[in-house]
Amino acid sequence: MEKFVYYAPTEIVFGRDTENRTAELVKKYGGTRVFVIYGGHSAVKSGLIGRIEENLKEAGIPMLAMGGVVPNPLVSTAREMVKAALEFDADFILGVGGGSVMDTAKGVAHAVASPEHDIWDFWTGTKVEKSLPIGAVLTISAAGSETSNSAVLTNDLKVPPTKRGINNNFNRCKFAIMNPELTMTLPKYQIGAGAADIFMHTSERYFAAILGNHLTDEMAEGLFRDIILYGPKGVEDPQDYEAMSEIMWCGSVSHVGLTGIGAQGDTPREGDWACHQLGMAISALYDSTHGATLTAVWAAWARYVREANIARFAQFARKVYGITEEDDMKASEAGIECTNAFFKSVGMPLSLTELLGHEPTDEEIEAIATECTYDRKRKIGSFKVLDYDDIVAIYKACR
Ligand code: NZQ
Ligand code: ZN
Repeated sequence: MEKFVYYAPTEIVFGRDTENRTAELVKKYGGTRVFVIYGGHSAVKSGLIGRIEENLKEAGIPMLAMGGVVPNPLVSTAREMVKAALEFDADFILGVGGGSVMDTAKGVAHAVASPEHDIWDFWTGTKVEKSLPIGAVLTISAAGSETSNSAVLTNDLKVPPTKRGINNNFNRCKFAIMNPELTMTLPKYQIGAGAADIFMHTSERYFAAILGNHLTDEMAEGLFRDIILYGPKGVEDPQDYEAMSEIMWCGSVSHVGLTGIGAQGDTPREGDWACHQLGMAISALYDSTHGATLTAVWAAWARYVREANIARFAQFARKVYGITEEDDMKASEAGIECTNAFFKSVGMPLSLTELLGHEPTDEEIEAIATECTYDRKRKIGSFKVLDYDDIVAIYKACR
């Protein structure tokens, strides 16, 4: 094995009723005044926010809760929350929800720790130098934000809006409370979108330019098989505790960095992430559900790039789906078909037309490609580096 650094500091507290340990964990990580962030209605309706409030109150920890985070979270909402958290003098940020809530919590934590900056500065080049401690109570298995080093926000004041991510270790939560029962109230569509996103967090690291580490591959292939097995079971019956727990753990392991370990010489295996960039541009302009944007583009991306390393796609087909075809190109095609069948089995769209509800025009595709390349200023991907024209071709192929 070549050089690598693996940093995954989040304390995972998994299982039934674990949300009752919120106050204990907040205290452990130094929180004395907690600003609680949640989304729309689900966490209030389920009584979770009330239970957490009670838990903190009993431990004598002052808290202020603020909701309103929407999927594809907005920087304008986060800005309001920064103001409220500063006024409250918060020293700990607790997110109760999914990726959108957690990413907002991360942004708020950074901006409260450095109030001389506007929150969006951190998404446009300003380095995060410090932050408040952040904790997560997870209610949806999908984005993996509870263990990842990423945070993704949409700048809704920009015309057209832009959706961007940042990666740094201040984005790592101190703890993540993961009770699969909290995900049983999810709509089937969100469970399916989550399963797709979990698959993709492994796929983005598996189809990379830099590879290395057999164990990493074995883990990734196991993760693929697990989410392919349990994703549809969770969609079928959200009360299936076993399925919902497998999906939840898959979600965190998929995005904690474990499936990205490896290097060639000094160059680390950093992943490809082109599908995420393709998908985020769609979400920026159409507010589409993150996981669904990924399934709409994946097969077209795969067919466009596979010849950069056809053996890798063949390995994926053989190890993940048990394809016995000896010809690499034919095996890769079978793997792509199987993956589309998985996406379909969790209720996800397989084309842009299915995703958007209409067939996008050439002008629409050019607008998405412009957002994806930040006004033609960047290329994406590493498995095969993609420029504006490649991106347009891929979007057209998944129409
Ligand atoms: O707002 P509420 O009412 O809570 O409803 C939410 C929301 O509508 C609902 N929901 C969540 N838990 C529920 C529930 N409904 C019923 N019962 C529950 N227990 O689910 C909807 C989606 O929530 P959201 O947080 O948006 O989902 P997800 O976790 O998929 O997060 C998506 C966001 O994360 C970003 C995505 O781009 C997107 O903005 N990502 C973040 C990453 C990271 N930080 O590492 C990596 C990902 O690749 C991704 O980009
Ligand atoms: Zn994702």
